[in-house]
Amino acid sequence: MLVVNKVISVFKKFAWFKRFNARVTYEVLAKYIPAADWHFMNYGYIPGAAEVESSPPPSGVKDQWHSANMYHYLACKVPLVEKKVLEVGSGRGGGAAYIVRTFSPAQYIGLDIAKNAIELARKLHPYPGLSFVQGSGESLTMEDNSIDVVINVESCHGYGDVKKFLREVARVLRPGGYLLLVDFRNSVENMELFWQELIDSGMVIVSKEDISANVVKAIESEDESKRKKIASLVPRKYQKLFCDFAGVVGSRFYLTLKNGSRPYYRFVLRKGF
Ligand SMILES: C[S@@+](CC[C@H](N)C(=O)[O-])C[C@H]1O[C@@H](n2cnc3c(N)ncnc32)[C@H](O)[C@@H]1O
Repeated sequence: MLVVNKVISVFKKFAWFKRFNARVTYEVLAKYIPAADWHFMNYGYIPGAAEVESSPPPSGVKDQWHSANMYHYLACKVPLVEKKVLEVGSGRGGGAAYIVRTFSPAQYIGLDIAKNAIELARKLHPYPGLSFVQGSGESLTMEDNSIDVVINVESCHGYGDVKKFLREVARVLRPGGYLLLVDFRNSVENMELFWQELIDSGMVIVSKEDISANVVKAIESEDESKRKKIASLVPRKYQKLFCDFAGVVGSRFYLTLKNGSRPYYRFVLRKGF
């Protein structure tokens, strides 16, 4: 297993491999674990007291409450009512459905590279105004200046070329439009590199927050239910691998997030006029 991990970490330096890896992983997950009660694939977020005071947390979410929180507190950053929203990396569509129900955008398009995830999202969330399309964040089919807000939740770390993705976001956003993004990087250096990529995109960084501690709290709070879910959904021989992937307490993901060597940030960017 150690050798496999080493080989993967070497290959991950290549854009084609990152694309291949992301696509295969999420195609397989949606095809083989189409669980109807598993709607989110982010690590979750627990807000601070001040945030809760200014905006109460989600209601009407039965499961994966902290993952819904990740979307909720990101979406609270800018007005979404009657806006045209594009989510890149919408996964199983839980975040898209939550935002459509809660923030009333005029139109919400969820886009994901994994065809199986798109098909699953369409089945799970048939809401008016919400559509799901297969595509890559690195080459969007939307017209220039056609979108009010782009949302990207824990997705772009897996893209082959993040600069290309940011160029595409800046192209499709209308002047004054927003990019709302949360994601981690596997080292402080890589997060600094990402900040530079955001600056180079030409969009203005409106806010940049380290939310690592909020994500750690969410992982800890959800650990028991996450482990139970994995035990019920995943064949026994893959459970250890899946626990690591899901970032349970004690996993490499959890430990590096907690010790600060895997920073997790929330960003708001605005395209200039
Ligand atoms: C960790 S999941 C997060 C899903 C969702 N945002 C959520 O929080 O539940 C990352 C998602 O990004 C998608 N993805 C990876 N590379 C992509 C790309 N180049 N273009 C669009 N989506 C991509 C994956 O297929 C996967 O569904």
